Amino acid sequence: MNINIDIPVIGNNEELLTTVLESIGEAYQVKNVSVEDLKKETHQIIIILKNDKESPLDLAQSILNEHSNTPIIFISDMPDFELLRELTRMGITDYFVLPDEEWQFLERINKLILTMKEIKTETSSSEGFIRGGGKVFTFFSGKGGSGKSLISSLFAQTLKLDSTAKVLFIDLNLQYGGAETYLGINSTRSMIDLIPVIHEISEHHIRNVSEIMEPSKLEVLVSPRDTELAERINEDFVMRLIRASKRSYDFIIIDTPSYMDIKTFTALNESDRIYYVMNQDTVSIRVLKYVDTVLKQLGLVTDERMELVMNFTGKDNELSNKDIQRFVSYPISANIKRDFKGVHASMNKGEPLRKEPKDKKLSPVAKDLKKWVRSMLK
Ligand SMILES: Nc1ncnc2c1ncn2[C@@H]1O[C@H](COP(=O)(O)OP(=O)(O)OP(=O)(O)O)[C@@H](O)[C@H]1O
Ligand SMILES: [Mg+2]
Repeated sequence: MNINIDIPVIGNNEELLTTVLESIGEAYQVKNVSVEDLKKETHQIIIILKNDKESPLDLAQSILNEHSNTPIIFISDMPDFELLRELTRMGITDYFVLPDEEWQFLERINKLILTMKEIKTETSSSEGFIRGGGKVFTFFSGKGGSGKSLISSLFAQTLKLDSTAKVLFIDLNLQYGGAETYLGINSTRSMIDLIPVIHEISEHHIRNVSEIMEPSKLEVLVSPRDTELAERINEDFVMRLIRASKRSYDFIIIDTPSYMDIKTFTALNESDRIYYVMNQDTVSIRVLKYVDTVLKQLGLVTDERMELVMNFTGKDNELSNKDIQRFVSYPISANIKRDFKGVHASMNKGEPLRKEPKDKKLSPVAKDLKKWVRSMLK
């Protein structure tokens, strides 16, 4: 049917090549080529075969560097979760184990060819978009009411307003919601609407279900705010949602509840950075120590990934940052002032703390966020 479409295959593996030919060779022109040959032309899809000679990650990286807008599919003869995770982080579109997943593989290729056609007609003018470059920042705390929802939503809004990045905000407070209060959103749509398409989820689906803030154009995936519906979302959903988002957005900002369940854990595990929100007191340190132990027991690496956000800073707090740094080794990346007046004023108006690119008078909290986001973007 698409016999005139070339699909280059990289990597020396006779057995896997034969299987690929058997599954899609009738529909497409499958050609085993070298990385050098690949550079000469643009392609709709590129397939990489796992092989003994080259490291999968190096091979994938060299191809991603040259072909950042082309979907890349990795084929292996056995499942390898670690490798899958690394490859997805880098921006590989998909991973199949052949011959077991032959059928899914063909389906996926057909879909990708179709969407690549759509994308071509939709965005042929917008150059310079890097796929798989999405950074995931998750806000977490073991202590309720520390300010996760307020800060994460304002962080996303500020990032969107003060940069040209594509930003998606995901509210993972599945049962009660959280951030939509701070953003002034009242939506009937929620991420529940993504359940039927989660196995083939694309930017297009996400955009259809998300709320778009005006005038910032921040995209927000609202939580179902319903205990029963929330149960229909599992960790696989969370993982697929985050990975798909990484392919289409520059930053994905996630708000989480204070309790640790497998969904929150999955989000933390998929994150490039975890912003742990806490207050300047001993209780916060104790909770952080506890959370840290639990995360380590669950096998999550927090070094280089976790940073602290001090909320409710002010004069008469129990501890200073200096005191805190004596007990905790994670760096403190931001200080957000306590400002009940400013926060309540905007809550009462049902408006976000940051709304427009040039808000006339920013509240202290919004100012602190602006400073932080600016330093982070440098
Ligand atoms: N810097 C601040 N100044 C003044 N009020 C704040 C500040 N940060 C948060 N608040 C207020 O504190 C309360 C708790 O904040 P928030 O809902 O963001 O916490 P949370 O960590 O998301 O809580 P939960 O664990 O329930 O999800 C809210 O009423 C919020 O408006
Ligand atoms: Mg919250």
